[in-house]
Amino acid sequence: MIEYVNVSKTFTNEAHKITAVNDISLKINQGELVVLLGPSGCGKTTLLRLTNRLEELDRGHILINNRKIDTQDEVKLRQGIGYVIQEIGLFPNKTIGENIGMIPKVIGWNQNKVEKRIEELLEMMNLDSILYKDKYPHQLSGGQRQRIGVARALAANPDILLMDEPFGAIDPINRKNIQDQFLTLQKKLNKTIIFVSHDIHEALKMADKIAIINQGELIQFDTPENILLDPKNKFVEEFIGTERAMKVLDLVRVKEAMSSISYKYDDLEVKDALKLMKKNNRDYLLICSEDRRPLGYISREDILKNPFQQESKIINLIKDLDIRLTYTSTLKEALTIMVSNEVTKLCIVDQNGTLVGAIDFTDIQDYLSKNYRRNQEMGL
Ligand SMILES: Nc1ncnc2c1ncn2[C@@H]1O[C@H](COP(=O)(O)OP(=O)(O)OP(=O)(O)O)[C@@H](O)[C@H]1O
Ligand SMILES: [Mg+2]
Repeated sequence: MIEYVNVSKTFTNEAHKITAVNDISLKINQGELVVLLGPSGCGKTTLLRLTNRLEELDRGHILINNRKIDTQDEVKLRQGIGYVIQEIGLFPNKTIGENIGMIPKVIGWNQNKVEKRIEELLEMMNLDSILYKDKYPHQLSGGQRQRIGVARALAANPDILLMDEPFGAIDPINRKNIQDQFLTLQKKLNKTIIFVSHDIHEALKMADKIAIINQGELIQFDTPENILLDPKNKFVEEFIGTERAMKVLDLVRVKEAMSSISYKYDDLEVKDALKLMKKNNRDYLLICSEDRRPLGYISREDILKNPFQQESKIINLIKDLDIRLTYTSTLKEALTIMVSNEVTKLCIVDQNGTLVGAIDFTDIQDYLSKNYRRNQEMGL
């Protein structure tokens, strides 16, 4: 367990004083993964460095397992705390294997055990141990070096891990894999982890709790769900703002946001189609066959272009809407498909391919604004 009690740290830069950490109190339970989230310069790295005494605090105290850290031997303290530093910090003239095995060696593991551990950790980080063990840091990409930094912090199996943007330099695909693997590993290892991130998606995914920090102060400390649903103030709201909407898009299925069934059979008259569009407040109408297969759509614009068409059969005006989405897809999938195919609406079908509705940008906007309003009314 790590406990911060009224912790403050001020730096003096020439004449200027900067309070990097301002009266932070925070309790992190054994086995919890806490993400520190906040803008650049808000004090995240400083808080980590105070925890392993790379910086000494000015006021307050930090306890690890109920013992004040300033009463402990600095070196011993650090051996029990794995630290992934923000700039990775591998030793350039040591091989990858030597970098990872450094602390296990210092604390007296035999060579065999160290070698095994190096292999195990490289595999865990998705790096072939035979290929990478004897390379030097400059022969690796930034993302690979970062993975080595994580492996090195885990090497001596410490109870506590401090990770300063450990996956920041890794490309999105590898990052997702590493996050997943790391979470699986954490379920087994149950370490107490403080994890710094700029990325709210990463924070929401990884964290048991998120600590939102601004200008050295702890603004909100809560579970990801509560941070999303109940941002404590404007700062938190703005910080997670757009991401909050993105998260909703990820969670909501199109069947909840699509417009109610707006299809009509192909024997519909054009003028009825216009009336229906008006009633639905849309400038198009989805059309399906007798057995409810989607045939496409007709647009108000096409009808109005040639008034004589108002007398004709709908079937002549149908344009194909060939992109179909099942109603269990998420709003984010719908938006992605719209954007990548440059279309503004999609047919929604059920698992049998039967047309059940349509979704367009307006439906998504309506859904979001209704939902937010509801949250606000409920005081959420
Ligand atoms: N050794 C130092 N000497 C003087 N000022 C420092 C020192 N370390 C940090 N600071 C200042 O303290 C503040 C907090 O810095 P810190 O590195 O903790 O921020 P951070 O939240 O980790 O930022 P980032 O997200 O950019 O890494 C900044 O204003 C920084 O300039
Ligand atoms: Mg930092």
